[in-house]
Amino acid sequence: MNADLHAITLRVNSRDYELSVPPGDRLSHTLRHKLGLTGTKVGCDAGDCGACTVLLDGNAVCSCMVATLQAQEMEIQTIEGLRDDALTQALQKAFQETGGVQCGICTPGMVVSAVALLRQTNALTREDVENALSGVLCRCTGYRKITDAVLAAANSSLVQNGLQEKSDMSGLAIVGQRIPRVDGTQKIRGQQHFGDDGVPSDALVVKIIRSPDHHTRFTFGDLEGFVKNNPGIERVFTAADIPGENIYGVIPPFSDQPVFAETHCRFKGEAVAMVVGDGATMSGFDREDFPVSWEDMPSNLSPEQALRADCEALHRGRKNNILTEGIVRRRLPDQVSEEDSLQVTGRFETSYVEHAPIEPEAGWARMRDGCLEIYACTQAPHMDHEEIAKILDLGLDDLRVIPTAVGGGFGTKLDLSVQPYLALAAYVLKQPVRLAYSRPESMMATTKRHPAEMDVALSADRTGRIQALKFDGLFNTGAYASWGPTVANRVPVHASGPYFVPDYDATAKAVYTNGPVSGAFRGFGVPQSAIAVEALIDRLADQLEMDRLEIRLLNALKNGQPTVTGQVFETGVGITACLQALEPHWKQAKSRAQDFNAGPPAGARRHKRYGVGVASCWYGCGNTALPNPSTIRAGINKQGKITLFQGAMDIGQGANTVISQIFAEALGLPLDAINVEIGDTQITPDAGKTSASRQTFISGKAAYLCGTELRQQLLRHGNVSDQAQLSLSGCELRIDDEGAGRIIDLTGLKENEDGFVFHEQQTYDAPTTDLDENGQGEPYAQFGYGAQLVELCVDTGLGTVELIKITAAHDVGRAINPELVEGQIEGGIAQGIGLALMEEYIPGVNENLHDYLIPTIGDVPEIESLIVEVPDAHGPYGAKGLGEHVLIPTAPAILNAIRHATGAEIRKVPATPSRVLTALREVNS
Ligand code: FES
Repeated sequence: MNADLHAITLRVNSRDYELSVPPGDRLSHTLRHKLGLTGTKVGCDAGDCGACTVLLDGNAVCSCMVATLQAQEMEIQTIEGLRDDALTQALQKAFQETGGVQCGICTPGMVVSAVALLRQTNALTREDVENALSGVLCRCTGYRKITDAVLAAANSSLVQNGLQEKSDMSGLAIVGQRIPRVDGTQKIRGQQHFGDDGVPSDALVVKIIRSPDHHTRFTFGDLEGFVKNNPGIERVFTAADIPGENIYGVIPPFSDQPVFAETHCRFKGEAVAMVVGDGATMSGFDREDFPVSWEDMPSNLSPEQALRADCEALHRGRKNNILTEGIVRRRLPDQVSEEDSLQVTGRFETSYVEHAPIEPEAGWARMRDGCLEIYACTQAPHMDHEEIAKILDLGLDDLRVIPTAVGGGFGTKLDLSVQPYLALAAYVLKQPVRLAYSRPESMMATTKRHPAEMDVALSADRTGRIQALKFDGLFNTGAYASWGPTVANRVPVHASGPYFVPDYDATAKAVYTNGPVSGAFRGFGVPQSAIAVEALIDRLADQLEMDRLEIRLLNALKNGQPTVTGQVFETGVGITACLQALEPHWKQAKSRAQDFNAGPPAGARRHKRYGVGVASCWYGCGNTALPNPSTIRAGINKQGKITLFQGAMDIGQGANTVISQIFAEALGLPLDAINVEIGDTQITPDAGKTSASRQTFISGKAAYLCGTELRQQLLRHGNVSDQAQLSLSGCELRIDDEGAGRIIDLTGLKENEDGFVFHEQQTYDAPTTDLDENGQGEPYAQFGYGAQLVELCVDTGLGTVELIKITAAHDVGRAINPELVEGQIEGGIAQGIGLALMEEYIPGVNENLHDYLIPTIGDVPEIESLIVEVPDAHGPYGAKGLGEHVLIPTAPAILNAIRHATGAEIRKVPATPSRVLTALREVNS
């Protein structure tokens, strides 16, 4: 045995394992890589996220912070060992029933922590649960439903008898039901495979060498000698080893990011080489030993700096470092009042925000039967497929992307990350390879929310009607294009907010800097612009002595009014309904604020001020003025098995469930008859990217058409009317129509080459038009709308903000699954809280989850969701997208509430205590 290894006995899930481990091996690593217990997830390796929580002698601990040697003679329990006991089963049901699971990467850690708590007592308060689960981070759910789940499971009768199923999946009323997530149980039980799970045991390990600074030149040393002198290292790859194009991107005309930099790096964390070796060698690999020398070059980290005439262009042909500029201009002279108007102006700034999915980017790849297979977490398998084929100079049939489950994405997993490295190594070495980014690596190398600097002028007539809005935004797009063009084009279309603005002039420039690559992040720049515009609407209201909700209602866009791009929706404009839904809550909240602030300023309340804020949102679902199709197919085989090939990636938002619900309802067969095949590029047609809140609308519409047409085939075969009822029993299809029944024996029908006796495929693309040189046109077939109300307390002595309650009204057209709608609302609000109050990524400073703070279970207040349904003309059953919308109003409503409480206007987010105190000093000076 290797002298560095220690022979130990580890007792895990009531079983003894004889193992040899190195002294510093983390328990999480031993469990996952030596024992194959991958239900224990790894999100940070630093004790910050809690995804790896296990029980040690009954106590919940982060297994990444425990050396395996220390765990000898202790009883270790993982989710695999807990999943079948009565207590855990009650928790599993409760998580499903309450919607406590979304992407599922945090869920095993949450369940294990809850087991430890419930073993002590089931007489629990909300606070008890929050304290017990406070060490586990969740980026999707907003935590409220997780706490609900634990409280529900704590009810002893439920623990003993199990929860009742909330919805029967064998019924035919499917759309509109709170149906549990179709993939929820697997996630809760820790059986779902994410990017770093299910990897072949003989896989080689990939590590990437990255730039240590923002702008560097580099020279490699003796790479051949390095490999020769390091047994266990198979090979080093650099740009010279790429068979095809050393470039990728998400918008082909703008693709500019190399897989490996060739001579110099434009941002900290850019890849220059990769090292591939066996697991034991690579676990001890020190990047400092790699033969490369670095030379620092001057860097530009801000758009102002990058725009200066004397600043060198980061990319040839991009004058003044401008990647692109979006413009929307429109003036309706007959609508612009000649009367005196009142103008308010302001400059607002936002920071880099890190997506922080609890699953860092990960995957593996192998050659199988001559085909390259890439398994990785992604939001866009077909787009990855095409990009990797270009990089490797392969045909599309030579490779296949098989997405794993995605442990949170929020936009960052739209861009390639681990995929090209895995593909290149597996293709060249003909061996399985694996790559999982560490948390710091994920934070430095992947995309961020664009920091923005925005100058806005807003004017209204004396009755409060908005007359004009001028918006100029600089968006820091970092070193490469990524989704910068999308942000620059989307922001001017949305910066008006969901209001009627007769005189409008908006520009947004995406500017290259040596910062991290800014990409897609829930809202594509719209959350930033909403912060600026909603603050000015409040100022207008105050100057006009109008109620802040009333001024929004007065200006809310109506059916038949043109948007700022001149698009007119005759139906489906839901912002008024959202604001009206908030009205009673607004009155009560204002009265609470008045009572609190009028109370005696003594004791703990001495420095406290209560504030109430409101903000609106709208968001166009799908690509901006671009084709945006989704294709869904389905078939029924001779055995009566229905397969739905649905490639809309479920990143936690629930596409697998929602698309299945829509399809099943349209087909007229129960949901439990449907088997779902997800996202494999070889068998599943392209349903486009999971981005821009497009899947429920566009892929959902394709699923609706597919289900409807498949039903028509069955009805035609049975020669029955549209009203006929279908049912399946084994290989028999029963059709009942007007009292007469008919049975079709599927085994007697001819099957197609895929083995289906009935088969259908449908594509849907939303009707949009190009935008002209003034940004006029019809960029989206559908907008979704929302408004949120925030109540909070500001401590004017400390500058801290305590959130009391958020009430959120969102127009979803038709709630296909209200449980999932609420989950999206709560999760989006949690991310909005982070944007408003705590998240500020500083390259090179806070590349981990203890210095970069995201909301914990204690940071999310009570949330009341008001689901508004104003049907859309195009969406399936009237449904609208929701994923991005829910984050947009949160930060502006929080900032408006801070101003209401104290008079202090925060012009740069996050509103950290020091910024709040500075703003308070300004207002009091
Ligand atoms: Fe908690 Fe995704 S469900 S991180």
